[in-house]
Amino acid sequence: MATFTLPKNSVIKKEGRVHKAPAGAKRVKAFKIYRYDPDSGENPRYDRFELDLDDCGPMVLDALIKLKAEADPSLTFRRSCREGICGSCSMNIDGTNTLACTKAIEDVKGEVKITPLPHMDVIKDLVPDFTHFYAQYASIKPWLQTVTPPPSGKERLQSPEDRAKLDGLYECILCACCSTSCPSYWWNSDKFLGPAILLQAYRWLADSRDEMTGERLDSLEDPFRLYRCHTIMNCANTCPKGLNPAKAIAETKKMVAERIV
Ligand code: SF4
Ligand code: SF4
Ligand code: FES
Repeated sequence: MATFTLPKNSVIKKEGRVHKAPAGAKRVKAFKIYRYDPDSGENPRYDRFELDLDDCGPMVLDALIKLKAEADPSLTFRRSCREGICGSCSMNIDGTNTLACTKAIEDVKGEVKITPLPHMDVIKDLVPDFTHFYAQYASIKPWLQTVTPPPSGKERLQSPEDRAKLDGLYECILCACCSTSCPSYWWNSDKFLGPAILLQAYRWLADSRDEMTGERLDSLEDPFRLYRCHTIMNCANTCPKGLNPAKAIAETKKMVAERIV
């Protein structure tokens, strides 16, 4: 399980605000939510919100949307698909990095504590700054690279067996739950690519149609970009899509080793 550490700009100094459940609520659930606003003098803090589970959808994202609509419109978080597909609603819930839209409220015993993904700069409340993460993603050139024309003049076909090699890789939604649960990434995110980006890098190494394998391995063969992974496995334990970035990293190291011998 991913160990919780506070976001980078976080020392909780003050008691936050309390938003009580409506009168007559029968199944009251409490949420303790991290708040940070660069323009506020109350930073950072935890606010306590209560809601009636009989009047709310089942997922943590349902609760956040309801609390924003009815208790505090300034509560800020990312979301889009509500289906575990877009990766926007990643956050730390009850000590584990996961997706708010696929995390059932009832799976959390007692108060639901919600913070931004650990060890990221926070823009506001539950919204971390992904600028560096996306720059690292761009650095691995996440698209099909070829030098020869397509054999048929049109498409680059794959056999079912070659296509199957992308299973467990293409499903990644770049939510960053894995990278922000990785201790090596916490301490060396300036130079280590981290599990999410390395899984994406391997997705192109494993693609039978790509013709830049050598160049891709050259760019990864570095004491920090690839080799800061120490197989701690937090990444695989926390991935809400059930993927295993550590395995992809191990396969990449194997490819590097095999071309040396
Ligand atoms: S296995 Fe590697 S990438 Fe995954 S959490 Fe551990 S050090 Fe990080
Ligand atoms: S490997 Fe899993 S946890 Fe990591 S970014 Fe992709 S979907 Fe998210
Ligand atoms: S809102 Fe898209 S993954 Fe949660």
